[in-house]
Amino acid sequence: MKLTDTIYIAGHRGLAGSAIWRHFEKAGYTNLVGLRSDELDLTDRQATMSRIREVSPEVVIDAAAKVGGIHANNTYPADFLSQNLQIQVNLMDAAHAAGVDRLLFLGSSCIYPKFAPQPIPESALLTGPLEETNDAYGIAKISGILQVQAMRRQHGHRWISAMPTNLYGPNDNYHPENSHVLAALIRKFHEAKTEGADTVTIWGSGRPLREFLHVDDLASAVEFLLLNYDDPQTINIGSGHEVSIQQLAHTIAEVVGFRGDLVNDETKPDGTPRKMLDSSRLHSLGWTTAWSLREGIADAYEWFLANESSVRSV
Ligand SMILES: NC(=O)c1ccc[n+]([C@@H]2O[C@H](COP(=O)([O-])OP(=O)(O)OC[C@H]3O[C@@H](n4cnc5c(N)ncnc54)[C@H](OP(=O)(O)O)[C@@H]3O)[C@@H](O)[C@H]2O)c1
Repeated sequence: MKLTDTIYIAGHRGLAGSAIWRHFEKAGYTNLVGLRSDELDLTDRQATMSRIREVSPEVVIDAAAKVGGIHANNTYPADFLSQNLQIQVNLMDAAHAAGVDRLLFLGSSCIYPKFAPQPIPESALLTGPLEETNDAYGIAKISGILQVQAMRRQHGHRWISAMPTNLYGPNDNYHPENSHVLAALIRKFHEAKTEGADTVTIWGSGRPLREFLHVDDLASAVEFLLLNYDDPQTINIGSGHEVSIQQLAHTIAEVVGFRGDLVNDETKPDGTPRKMLDSSRLHSLGWTTAWSLREGIADAYEWFLANESSVRSV
């Protein structure tokens, strides 16, 4: 991948895609292409085939997807399956037809079985049933990994796939129901502080352990992989650090400046006790994170404050 290559970043306005755009721009890549979904709907096969041929990129980064929290995934599984399959099949077929040499497909940790060993190694893929609440999304993403592998085998493309852990940072979704836990807690503590509330309630015991990655670290990993990784096996992108939900809540409360008490509502479910990716393959190639969780949360909160009136609400 060269600085002058035409690089099409699909989903360049989303959480992951916008960070990748910022990172590549800062790193000196001069021919970035981004198309909003209202300019190119990737579920429209004909439009995708002809537009990608026109753009004729050397590199494609697929950060476009229909994404949502547990509630949305559980309520609209048919939409998540159908739209994600269409987006990635159309984009990869169009990239093949346009002779794209390097492509990176982004998935997520929900591709791994519900009872995978922790931390989850890449070898856990397809070794057991998925978590039911987002199995439709997970199956679509697994198909994407297999499509990358099939394209490599059949056509010799140097395409790769990568599976990031939980992401957060600028452009995150702060919707009360559709957001992920870190963004949801930032919003909750901010509102409690603004309203002068004495307590904030945390769902469950606070004991489950989770891993988080600032999106700028994801973006640097994406560049690193496109420069250094060429293997059919998917590769995990994680920070290698885990934190309990309780520790996370305390850190967010401190960053936001909420001085009240945290109360645990133990009638609410905890979810899986531990979920963390084994990212030792990536780390052994020489890539490391730049952001600590605390600094990352401070950055995310700064962005939230600057964009409070326009944060995503879908
Ligand atoms: N968020 C996380 O914690 C996380 C963790 C691991 C992996 N990932 C993966 O990272 C990828 C991106 O996720 P994200 O969190 O960045 O999602 P996001 O913020 O919702 O962004 C998704 C982007 O996809 C674009 N898109 C959706 N449908 C499209 C369509 N039909 N045609 C063209 N573009 C379309 C949207 O474009 P417009 O804005 O132009 O409509 C949007 O910018 C996904 O594959 C996801 O699985 C995310």
